[in-house]
Amino acid sequence: MAYKVRFVNYPRQYQQHKKEFDAVFEEIMSGGDFILRRHLEEFEQRIASYVGTKHAIGVNTGTDALYLSARAIGFAPGDEVITVAHTFVATVGAIVQCGAKPVLVDVTDDFNMDVNQIEAAITPKTRGIIPVHLNGHACRMDKIMEIVEKYRLKMIEDAAQALGAEFRGKRCASFGDTGIFSFYPAKVLGTAGDGGLVCTNDDGLARKIRAFRDNGRVESVDVVECFGWCTRLDNLHAAILNMKFNYFEQWIKRRREIARMYDDGLSGISGLLLPPRSDGDYFDVYQNYVIRCKRRDELFAHLQKSGVEVLVSWRVPMHKQKALGLDHFELPVTERISAEVISLPMYPELTNEEVEFVIKAVKDFFH
Ligand SMILES: Cc1ncc(COP(=O)(O)O)c(C=O)c1O
Repeated sequence: MAYKVRFVNYPRQYQQHKKEFDAVFEEIMSGGDFILRRHLEEFEQRIASYVGTKHAIGVNTGTDALYLSARAIGFAPGDEVITVAHTFVATVGAIVQCGAKPVLVDVTDDFNMDVNQIEAAITPKTRGIIPVHLNGHACRMDKIMEIVEKYRLKMIEDAAQALGAEFRGKRCASFGDTGIFSFYPAKVLGTAGDGGLVCTNDDGLARKIRAFRDNGRVESVDVVECFGWCTRLDNLHAAILNMKFNYFEQWIKRRREIARMYDDGLSGISGLLLPPRSDGDYFDVYQNYVIRCKRRDELFAHLQKSGVEVLVSWRVPMHKQKALGLDHFELPVTERISAEVISLPMYPELTNEEVEFVIKAVKDFFH
């Protein structure tokens, strides 16, 4: 069907910045600068300084950023690592791919890890924790840091959806041993394909991850320091991301404006739950604007039929994915959330008229 409001609209962003996108392509193609070149270095430096970490290492996906972090930290068979089931599979995958055991705790109504459940999940085997800052909203980092310090846990922050998000003025991905981002096209900062990045203040981890991403080579192509993988962020993607990063603050401002419009337009509807408000300790970047409704599937069908393209993330939480063997966890809030969530269109290129159209379509369902 022809949607009136798309869930994301990549061509619109391209049209609005066509000259700049085309100039990036021309520069990279005519310079032949494809692998580990200055655009990547420049992008890494900009992200490190923006997030507030000493190092940033570009890799080819958020998935690999998680996995290389976990390998560099040294999660291994016999270790337990705490995370959530209301996340993209890659968060849990990074633990499993290292041979360690994921221990899943429930989330709260802000969609993030329930900090009151962490200590009960800790055993003598617990090595680490991966909090996920979902939808561009930070986890309760004061509580998480207390526990990390008390039990000397290693922490990877999954900030795939949270570039620019803050807890008490400190940016996501700057709290942990490492913090990771995804530059998948739909992310708050997305490239024209896949991309990811690891932030860290630890010189040793940074060096390992640099080696891992380029088959063990750091200083010279002639010296192999370890076995690794081939998972570098392409220079072309780094150049696109550099161009787009010039607009980043402006785009986050616009996302927050759209969130306010949704908040105001949809408040007070009985049967509809809105996401947590970005105030007090939190600065949210609204990767997604997620509403909740007990009649989710009906509302989903109604919105699609009205011409509003919406998405459900995720209908099946990770501990209910049959193939993953994690169904021994009981996570009632996660299960309830999975049955109720819908993500509304949320990107800076949305017009006010489109936002109003979405609000009206949601309201029509409840009237
Ligand atoms: C919370 C979370 N973690 C990890 C990832 C993995 O990132 P990528 O798709 O770049 O591999 C994503 C991407 O969707 C994500 O949303």
